[in-house]
Amino acid sequence: MIPLLKVQMSEEAPAAVARVLTSGMIGQGPVVDEFEQALRERIGNPHVATVNSGTAGLHLALRLATDPAGTGTGEAGGEVLTTPLTMVATNWTILANGLRPRWVDVDPATLNVDLDDLARKITPATRAIMVVHFAGYPVDLARLSGILDEAEALYGFRPLVIEDCAHAWGSTYRGEPLGNHGNIAVFSFQAVKHFTTGDGGLMVLPTPELNERARRLRWFGIDRDSPGRGLTRDDIPEWGYKFHMNDINASIGLANLARTDEVVRRYRENAAFFDRELASADGVELTERAPDRQPSFWAYPLLVSGKDAFVKHMTQAGITVSQVHERNDHHGALRPYMSLLPGLEEVVERMVCVPVGWWLSDEERLHIVDTIKAGW
Ligand SMILES: Cc1ncc(COP(=O)(O)O)c(C=O)c1O
Repeated sequence: MIPLLKVQMSEEAPAAVARVLTSGMIGQGPVVDEFEQALRERIGNPHVATVNSGTAGLHLALRLATDPAGTGTGEAGGEVLTTPLTMVATNWTILANGLRPRWVDVDPATLNVDLDDLARKITPATRAIMVVHFAGYPVDLARLSGILDEAEALYGFRPLVIEDCAHAWGSTYRGEPLGNHGNIAVFSFQAVKHFTTGDGGLMVLPTPELNERARRLRWFGIDRDSPGRGLTRDDIPEWGYKFHMNDINASIGLANLARTDEVVRRYRENAAFFDRELASADGVELTERAPDRQPSFWAYPLLVSGKDAFVKHMTQAGITVSQVHERNDHHGALRPYMSLLPGLEEVVERMVCVPVGWWLSDEERLHIVDTIKAGW
């Protein structure tokens, strides 16, 4: 079977891990520092904080966004506008912060939040906005910022936006890598992402203040960047989590970082091939391609007619396909927040992702195209 997702691991990684394991320091130490410096340069933003998963980064980001005074109690009852089409991790972090998800409908053209619906749903109860760049296709961040300008003028309050960039390592919006658009951006370095550290995540912050707070709260609220590096006599004014990355994961990250451009390039080449070959294929519709966005295509989504038959047809041809993430709003844990979402209904009826990653040979990607063109 051609897999839908696959681990990309540098040949240098085992030796890099071995060096850390025998160094006498396996916690958060010099390798994390080195990794963070490389990430700052790569993203072009000095405010970065590695964490031990994307989920941890989203959890901490929501704390920063919804508890600005640092009371540590959260603001139970506040609303977070969010998408139901994502890995449940995105929305569990809302519940874990004592907040209420309010669903924004999904735009079938992009699989991201429908920004018209988002504009309608911002109210004075909105504490934060969570968006996911689905399959690496960037949300229209300039339009989102314009909607927030209007909301701020009306309500006198501007909710922070958290960009879940778990699918979107390497994606750019208006020529800049994600993480440079005035919001909190959170990447995942989980096993099957473009770029893995085994498990891990990255927060990219819009201000030095948020960065300082994120770096403190990721490790119990203790400031490891201070000269005393958090000696126990220092007061801890605000409690934090055990969300920091360690040197073992950072060493895997450093080894893999060297190849990520090449890896992302291959995803994009395969996607461009599919764009060309499938543009006029019967029974499939491609998602949007706006000229101001360069997606990294963690998956290649299609809207198909007869989805069940399509999945069977592709599976029989040895190609793994799936929707990747089930709709979240029907899970028992989220049922109290249900609402009518016609865009999402259309998407779950028709959306399916096909393999697009670095592991596809030229023959395999042609096989995918030919199988689709043969009909189902
Ligand atoms: C959209 C999305 N958000 C968040 C996460 C959570 O990331 P992690 O597994 O690094 O905690 C994932 C993970 O697969 C994801 O796909």
